[in-house]
Amino acid sequence: MSKKPLTVGSLKENQPTQMKMSPPQPMEPPNRKTTAQPLIKLKQHDRTFTLTPHSGRTILDCALSQNQPIDYKCGKGNCEKCLVKVVAGSALISPPTAIEWSKLNKRLAEGFRLACQTKIN
Ligand code: FES
Repeated sequence: MSKKPLTVGSLKENQPTQMKMSPPQPMEPPNRKTTAQPLIKLKQHDRTFTLTPHSGRTILDCALSQNQPIDYKCGKGNCEKCLVKVVAGSALISPPTAIEWSKLNKRLAEGFRLACQTKIN
C-alpha cells in the first residue's frame, strides 16, 4: 500500500487539467408576457373601427381622438347618426342610457349603440 497522502486531485484519474468551456451561446431576451390591451371594435355602415378604450369617455370622443371618423351629427342622442354596432369589447362599455333605450330599444340586443351616448367603463 502506498503511503502517499490522498488529495482531491489524486482521486481523479484521466481528468483534463483545464475545463473545456463551450462557446458562448446567444442569450434569449427575457420572456416578457405581453398583455394585449382589450380593444373595442365597432361597425358603422360598411366600415370597421378599432378603438383603444379610455375610461370615462364616450365611444364617439374616443374614436375621434384616435382619428377614427365615426359619422355623427348632434352629439346629444337625438339624430342617431352615430349609430354603431359593437362587435367586440362590449364588456368595456357602460349599460345603455335612457336615451339609448328610447331610441334603440330592441336594437340594443343586437349590439347597436349610440356612440355619442355610450361611455367606456
Ligand atoms: S350624434 Fe346624434 S345621436 Fe349621436
